[in-house]
Amino acid sequence: MKKYFSTRLVSKAIPLCVAVLLPLSKVAAQTKADDAKMNTFVTGLMGKMTVDEKIGQLNLVTIGAATTGSVVNKGVEEKIKKGSIGGVFGVWGADRVKEVQDLAVKNSRLHIPLIFGLDVIHGHRTIFPIPLGMSAVWDMGLIKQSAQIAAKEATAEGLNWVYSPMVDIARDPRWGRISEGSGEDPWYGGQIAKAMVQGYQGSSMKNADAVMACVKHFALYGGAEAGREYNTVDMSRIKMYQDYLPPYKAALDAGAGSFMSSFNTVDGVPATANQWLLTDVLRKQWGFKGFVVSDYTAVNEMIAHGLGDLQMVSALALKAGLDMDMVGEGFLTTLKKSLAEGKVTNQEIDLACRRVLEAKYKLGLFDNPYKSIDASRAKEVLTPETRAQARNISKHSFVLLKNEAQTLPLKKTASIALVGPLADNHRDMLGTWVIAGEWEKSVSVLEGIKNVAGSNVTINYAKGANITEDSLFIKRLNFGPGMVSVDPKPADVLLKEAVDAAKKSDVIVAVVGESQSMSGESSSRSDIDIPESQKNMLKELAKLGKPLVIVLFNGRPLTLTWEDTHANAILDVWAPGTEAGNAIADVLFGDYNPAGKITATFPRSVGQIPIYYNHKNTGRPYDGKGPSKFKSNYLDISNDPLYPFGYGLSYTTFGYSDVKLSKSKLKGNETLTASVNVTNTGKYAGEEVVQLYISDPVASISRSVKELKNFKKISLQPGEQKEVSFNITPEELKFYNSQLKYDWEAGEFIIQIGTNSADTHTASVQWSK
Ligand code: NOJ
Repeated sequence: MKKYFSTRLVSKAIPLCVAVLLPLSKVAAQTKADDAKMNTFVTGLMGKMTVDEKIGQLNLVTIGAATTGSVVNKGVEEKIKKGSIGGVFGVWGADRVKEVQDLAVKNSRLHIPLIFGLDVIHGHRTIFPIPLGMSAVWDMGLIKQSAQIAAKEATAEGLNWVYSPMVDIARDPRWGRISEGSGEDPWYGGQIAKAMVQGYQGSSMKNADAVMACVKHFALYGGAEAGREYNTVDMSRIKMYQDYLPPYKAALDAGAGSFMSSFNTVDGVPATANQWLLTDVLRKQWGFKGFVVSDYTAVNEMIAHGLGDLQMVSALALKAGLDMDMVGEGFLTTLKKSLAEGKVTNQEIDLACRRVLEAKYKLGLFDNPYKSIDASRAKEVLTPETRAQARNISKHSFVLLKNEAQTLPLKKTASIALVGPLADNHRDMLGTWVIAGEWEKSVSVLEGIKNVAGSNVTINYAKGANITEDSLFIKRLNFGPGMVSVDPKPADVLLKEAVDAAKKSDVIVAVVGESQSMSGESSSRSDIDIPESQKNMLKELAKLGKPLVIVLFNGRPLTLTWEDTHANAILDVWAPGTEAGNAIADVLFGDYNPAGKITATFPRSVGQIPIYYNHKNTGRPYDGKGPSKFKSNYLDISNDPLYPFGYGLSYTTFGYSDVKLSKSKLKGNETLTASVNVTNTGKYAGEEVVQLYISDPVASISRSVKELKNFKKISLQPGEQKEVSFNITPEELKFYNSQLKYDWEAGEFIIQIGTNSADTHTASVQWSK
């Protein structure tokens, strides 16, 4: 292999498989030695760099594809040759990446390779469920596998850096980006963050099929007031540490190489220039060693936040600990001036430059800037094998929200009215954030049903309704060409076709909900119902008195009170990805028994938001019996959600025994074992996610009513019983107290094990110090 830099001798990292065989002290010594070699190399290189070239490394540009704002960089080719660009995003494909890398490696003075990033969010070419759907899988092996496949496909197309995982906790389904995260639970979010980072980065980022993860959006972006995109975030430090920061920390502990700062303010200061966040928390408290990139033009956006002009905000960001400026070129155009005026220091520029160069070093780009660009690898992308893996993962993400009188699974002899704007549709199968995903290659629900059902099933298809009839809404959804196509037929004609199809059929399957652009970035909604046109169709169909199955597409929890009352079954499929139709048909016909569980609470009405299971008790707690005077509740609605966190049904049923504890009194660092027997009491083999929650009823601060601490996913044949045990140590009892000290306090703890957060069996234990 051609050598581009003389790092060969200094950069050989020991493979993990060797590392695990070595005693820990030797591994630490080896890591130290590797770091020393990296430092020597980077110091040597920086010794040759001018200030302009150092600032150039801090500049990340997009050439045009995949923009998420109005700005696109100009003169990129010349800038790369001049050494004014450190990374590029929005370019992929082996030939294209090679062409751009050549500009840097062959034409710039110091031949420093570029880093190539992209929003690879839930798959690159093979698209998996949107992250909120993925989180409903409760299987870290499958989640990690999806990231591995994405990394393999992304590297086959020249990429080495992905803007994922998105680990923002969200408790407000009005926020469109709730679709991109793992829901509302900090511990569970951390598990997913870890699995994704491990999947992307593999055993070494130097591997040809590994990418560097970029954890986003640091921090608290999901706490936007009123669920309105890019809005202010203002919360107590205890809430940050206890409920919002853990997934970022989990991703860091899993070795994530980079972080992206968020658009929002934290304690009044935009995250992008927030020294407390980017330096005190991230680096000093948590020990992060990688680099931090801004979000798209987030440095420039601090002008609108009211922090000063471009020179001022760029200097503030650098000083706060931001290393790379995405697209806005504030660093490129102002830092040298700030240096001359004493507003930033050489040390600050050097530090940021060093971190960017170290990332390239860790990726092995100095050894081989073209390391993953290999035309022969094109065949590794969207293969029958990755499609099969996607189909498997997708069906694991579906959540059965209702199934009255065993309406599902459908018989493979039925006549089915397949209706709704998402039934014969390819585009919306993929969901939000699918930059390189090809929707034309996705499987529609109509196709999937034909593939799976066999010739004894009759399908009577009708569109029945448009996604929406609201022309202003359609205009907003169509921010990219053809995102929502509207059938020109009048709504009553479309509706009549659906009713006619239903009249001829035994059962109605209505595929409805949100289209691709109704969730994701800049897609906040104040009304989270199924759009009116579709709901009207459902109402007409419900009048026929035939079994009504809703297959629900959604990038967020929706308000489904009408649907829950009137439909016989509801299968939530989120946006399942490339293999959508096949996976949906597998579940509708019972070839796979659904086992997904929701990770974000479904409210009854928008008025209940924010609503989440791990809330605090008030001094006048709601008693669960409906509204009553002088309690913390509403006059017009119960406090209970429609579907609680962790909820999801199966075609079979599961019985839980009482909780058995190994001891009822513990001391210090002892371990408690809590177990239940779970029995499959129905007729189908099935999987169940057994969830462990703990409550701490008396403490120095008011604690959440319960917190998820662990789970196990088990498979049971009909009639089979399994014992499920959890080991609990004081680690699971810890919380952040008023001094932000992470510790546990002696006393009573309620151990809760069950099928969802609202349906658990409990036992009490006393734990002394
Ligand atoms: C803006 C989004 O907030 C972020 O998630 C994304 O990675 C960047 N744009 C780059 O596209």
